[in-house]
Amino acid sequence: MKIALLAGDGIGPEIMAQARRVLDALDLPDMVVTEGDVGGIAYKRHGHPLPPETLAMAREADAVLFGAVGDPDCDGLERHLRPEQAILGLRSELGLFANLRPATTFAGLEGMSALRPEIARAIDVLIVRELNGDVYFGEKGMRATDDGRREGYDIMSYAEDEVRRIAHVAFRAAQGRKGRLTSVDKANVLETSQLWRDVMVETAADYPDVELTHMYVDNAAMQLVKNPGQFDVIVTGNLFGDILSDQASMCVGSIGLLASAALGERQTDFGTFGMYEPIHGSAPDIAGQGRANPMAMILSLAMLLRHSLGREEAAERVEAAVATALEDGVLGHDLGGSAGTEAIGDAVLAAL
Ligand code: NAD
Ligand code: IPM
Ligand code: MN
Repeated sequence: MKIALLAGDGIGPEIMAQARRVLDALDLPDMVVTEGDVGGIAYKRHGHPLPPETLAMAREADAVLFGAVGDPDCDGLERHLRPEQAILGLRSELGLFANLRPATTFAGLEGMSALRPEIARAIDVLIVRELNGDVYFGEKGMRATDDGRREGYDIMSYAEDEVRRIAHVAFRAAQGRKGRLTSVDKANVLETSQLWRDVMVETAADYPDVELTHMYVDNAAMQLVKNPGQFDVIVTGNLFGDILSDQASMCVGSIGLLASAALGERQTDFGTFGMYEPIHGSAPDIAGQGRANPMAMILSLAMLLRHSLGREEAAERVEAAVATALEDGVLGHDLGGSAGTEAIGDAVLAAL
C-alpha cells in the first residue's frame, strides 16, 4: 500500500507531522510512505507548485494525503505558478471529481458551535462537491473593454456528463445514509444550474429510494445555520460547495475539524484511489506557532484508510480517538482551548 504525503505550506507540515504519528502508530503491514513537495515550497525549490516528480508520485500511489497550500509570498505570481494551482492540478490530472466533505457534530462540542447547542446537536451532513468543473476550470483572463477599462472574466460551465457522474456519487451516498438528497444550485439565474437541476431530476429516476429536493444556494446558506439538522446529503457544484463547506465547519465548531476525500473512478487493489485533505488552508496567520489543530488532517487520514485502503476498522479507530480527545476536553485554540498541535497529537495517540 503506497501513500504519498504532500504536506505543502504554512501549517501543512505541522499538521501532517501529527497525522504521520497516527499512521505510524497504526503499524499497518506493507505500507510504503513517500513524501513530495507541493505548493509554495515546491515553487521555491523547483520553480513550479506541482513539479512533475510530485505528480508522478501521486499517480503511483494508492492514496495521497495532502496538507495545505498557500503562501502570501506567492500571491503576486502569475496564476499558473501560484501554490493553489497545485491542488487544482492534482484534482484535475488525477480525475478526482467527487469531493466528500462530511460535517458531523462531536459529542461534547455542541457548546463550541457558532450556533446554539440545541441546533448544533443535530448536524450530520455530507456535502458532495463537484471538483473538476464549474467556474474553477473555465476559460479565464483579463482583457480591456472597447473603451479601455480592465475586465476580468471566468467562464462558468458544466457539461451534462460532468453533472451526471457527481449525481450518481451523491445518490449512492444518500442510499447509504438517510436517503435524502438536497441539490443546491442557482437555477433561478444560471444556465449551468438549470442543466444541473435537469440532470439531477433525470438521474433520480435510477434511485427511487432517494428523496431528491432542490434548494437555491442563498437559501441553503441560510438553512445551514437555521436548521442544519434538516440535511442528509447535499450535492452541489465546485464553487458553492467550497463556500458551504467552510460554513458548515463553523456549525460543527471549527474549520480545524473538517476532513475531506477527493475521489475519482480509478480503483486500486484495496479501494478507490483518492486524495485526502482538511478543508481548511495553510493558515499563514498561525503558521509556525504550533497552534494549528491537526484533527482535520488526522480525520482525513481516517477517510484515506476507509476509501483507498479498505481499512474500515483502522479508520473507525482513528475517528474514535479524535472523538475521545475532544470529549476529554483537549481543545485547540480554534475551539477556544489551549492545546497546541503536538499536544492534540499526543492526546489522539493516547486515545488510539
Ligand atoms: P484558511 O483555511 O487557511 O484559514 C482561515 C482561518 O482559519 C485562519 O484564521 C486560520 O488561522 C484558521 N484555521 C484554518 N485551519 C486551522 C487549523 N487547522 N487550526 C486552527 N485554525 C485554523 O483560509 P485563508 O486564510 O483564506 O487562506 C490561507 C491560504 O490557504 C491561502 O493561500 C488560500 O488560497 C489557501 N487555501 C488552501 C487550501 C488547501 O490547500 N486545500 C484551502 C483553503 C485555502
Ligand atoms: C479548498 C480550497 C481550494 C478550493 C483552493 C485552495 C483552490 O479552498 O480545498 O476548499 O477552492 O477548492
Ligand atoms: Mn475552500
